[in-house]
Amino acid sequence: MQEKLKAIRENFIEELKNVQDTNALEQLRIRVLGKKGELTSILRGMGQLSPEERPRMGQIVNETRAKLESAIESAQATLKEKEKALRLQRETIDVTIPPAERSAGSLHPMNIVLNDLIEIFTGMGFETVEGPEIEYDHYNFELLNLPKNHPARDAQDTFYVDENVVLRTHTSPVQARVMTTRKPPIRIISPGRVYRADEVDATHSPVFHQIEGLVIDKNISMGDLKGTLDTFAQRLYGKGIVTRFRPSFFPFTEPSAEVDLTCSACGGKGCRVCKGTGWIEVLGAGMVNPRVLEMCGIDSREYSGFAFGMGIERLTILKYNVPDMRYLYENDLRFLKQFR
Ligand code: DAH
Repeated sequence: MQEKLKAIRENFIEELKNVQDTNALEQLRIRVLGKKGELTSILRGMGQLSPEERPRMGQIVNETRAKLESAIESAQATLKEKEKALRLQRETIDVTIPPAERSAGSLHPMNIVLNDLIEIFTGMGFETVEGPEIEYDHYNFELLNLPKNHPARDAQDTFYVDENVVLRTHTSPVQARVMTTRKPPIRIISPGRVYRADEVDATHSPVFHQIEGLVIDKNISMGDLKGTLDTFAQRLYGKGIVTRFRPSFFPFTEPSAEVDLTCSACGGKGCRVCKGTGWIEVLGAGMVNPRVLEMCGIDSREYSGFAFGMGIERLTILKYNVPDMRYLYENDLRFLKQFR
C-alpha cells in the first residue's frame, strides 16, 4: 500500500510539471484527489488492514493528501498569474490609433420637404392622416365621382389587385375615408405613396409620392383655397412666390384648377426651368364637388370645402433644382450627401 502511495505521489509530481494551464491542473486534481480519485480509492482499501496498521496508514495518506493539495495550490497561483499576464498582453489596446471615421447620416431630400410640408400645414391647423396604399376601388374612384367606365379613369393607369381592389393611384381616397367617418369641420393633409403603371423616366415612376389636402366647413370658398396655397408656396419656396389658378377638370372638384407657382429659379422673369413662362405647374385643386360631399354623407347645402393634391417628388425637384427624378430613388451617396 505504501508502494502504491509513493507511486501516486511521484507520478503526480511528474505530471504537475507538465501542466500548462489551470484547466489541466483541475483535471489532474480531480483524477488524484477527487471523490473517485486515486488517493481516495486507497483510503477505501484501508478496511483490509489490521487495526494496528490503520492509524499509521491513515496518517501517511493524510499527510500525502496535504502535500499534494498544497502543491496544487501553489501551482494554481503560478498558473493564474501566467494566464493573467497572457490575457493582458492579448487585450492590449493601442489608444493612440486614430478612430475609424463614422460619417453622420442625413435626411433624404424628399423627407426634408415632407417634414417642411407637415410643419407648414400643421401651422395652419391641418392634421396629418394616413390611408392604405392597397385601396378599394370604392374609395380610390367611386366616392370621388369616378364611376366605373368613367373616361377620366383612363388618365390614371391603374394597377388592379382584383376587380374591387387597386394600388391607390392618388392620395385622394384618404379624403373619402375621412369624409365618410368624420363630421366637419375637417382640416387634414395626407402624404403617402401612390402607384401608376408608368415607365420610369426623368419625370415618371410607377411608385411616387403625393400629399393631399382637404378642408370642409361652413362657408369655405375658393378664396380660402387660394390663401392657403399662397401661404404654403411662400413658406416652402420663399417670399415673392405667388400662385396662379388655371381652369381645369377633376371629377372630384367643381370648379377645378391647375395651380402654377412663380418660377423660383428666375423669380418669374422666364428661364429654362419654366420654359420662359415664369410659371411652374405644381398641383391640382378645387372646391370639393357637392356630389362627392353627398356620396360621403356630408350635407352640401350646409358645408363646402376645398381640396388639393400634389407630387412630393416634383416639389423636391423644384426646391433643390434636381435635373432628373431618378436621382431621388437611386440612393447614390454622392447625391444624398449634398443634403446635410
Ligand atoms: N388626385 C389628383 C391627381 O392625382 C390631384 C388632385 C387634384 C387632388 C385636385 C385633389 C384635387 O384633391 O382637388 O392627379
